[in-house]
Formats: sequence, C-alpha cells, structure tokens
Amino acid sequence: EKYLVIHGPNLNLLGIREPEVYGRMTLKEINENLLREAAKNNVKLDIIQSNTEGEIIDLLHNANDMHGIIINPAAYTHYSVAIHDAIKAISNPVIEVHLSNIHNREDFRKKSVTAAACIGQISGFGFYSYILALHALIHHNQS
Ligand code: DQA
Repeated sequence: EKYLVIHGPNLNLLGIREPEVYGRMTLKEINENLLREAAKNNVKLDIIQSNTEGEIIDLLHNANDMHGIIINPAAYTHYSVAIHDAIKAISNPVIEVHLSNIHNREDFRKKSVTAAACIGQISGFGFYSYILALHALIHHNQS
C-alpha cells in the first residue's frame, strides 16, 4: 500500500516558525519519523510540501494510485473551498491533520472548511498527529 502526505503552506518553516505553537521539530524530522513508521507497517509513503493552493489541488487530482492521503492544509484549512471540493472530487480516503489544536486557538482557526470533505480530522498532537493519521488510514483500509 502507498500513501501520500501533503504538507501545506508555511510548514517548510517548522522548527523555526512559532516553536511554542508548532514545536521545535523540523519538517525533515517529522518526515523521517513518518517514513520510519511507514516502514514498520510495511507501507510506502510519498511526502510533499507546497505553499500554493493550485499545486495542492493538482496533487489531490493526481493521487489515483494512492491508498489514502494525509493532508495538513495549514492556513487553507480555514477558507479553501477549492481544496474541500478537490478532496470531495477524488475517491481516496483523506485524513486532515494539524500539529496544534485548532479548536483552542484564535476564532478564525476553529472552523475547518476542508475537514468536512475528509473521513476525519486529527488535531493537537504535534508531529504525532501525522503518525495517528497514518495508523487511522491503515486501519480504515483494513476494515
Ligand atoms: C496548522 C494550523 C493552521 O491554523 C495554521 O495556519 C498552520 C498550521 C497546524 O498544523 O496546527 O499553518 O495547520
């Protein structure tokens, strides 16, 4: 099985960017953890980071051969109807993840327009949100 991980805008700056909110782990370290976890579970991972909405939409459209997708749409979470529609348009199971708990932050972060198009959302566990999402997808595909 093969899964796609999409990291949205500004996540390339993890480690430096607001470490009190997002932690000190870099994106590279998060990805290394994810790849290790995938190997332990005998699944393959493609991981990509993008700062642009259109590119994220194209990645979703072209993910036909993926058994599932983990996406952190970052700020797009809160207003991208286009990413919501792209997730709806494809048949792969998609899980939304956030490092921070978007529900205990500013009001504008409490609303996710993209989560409604996903099978579920995991929010607030730092890099471990991604690990939880990987396990959730594997479980989803086995049941
Ligand atoms: C985030 C939460 C978003 O509100 C924010 O815009 C991000 C990161 C998270 O992972 O906690 O860039 O998606």
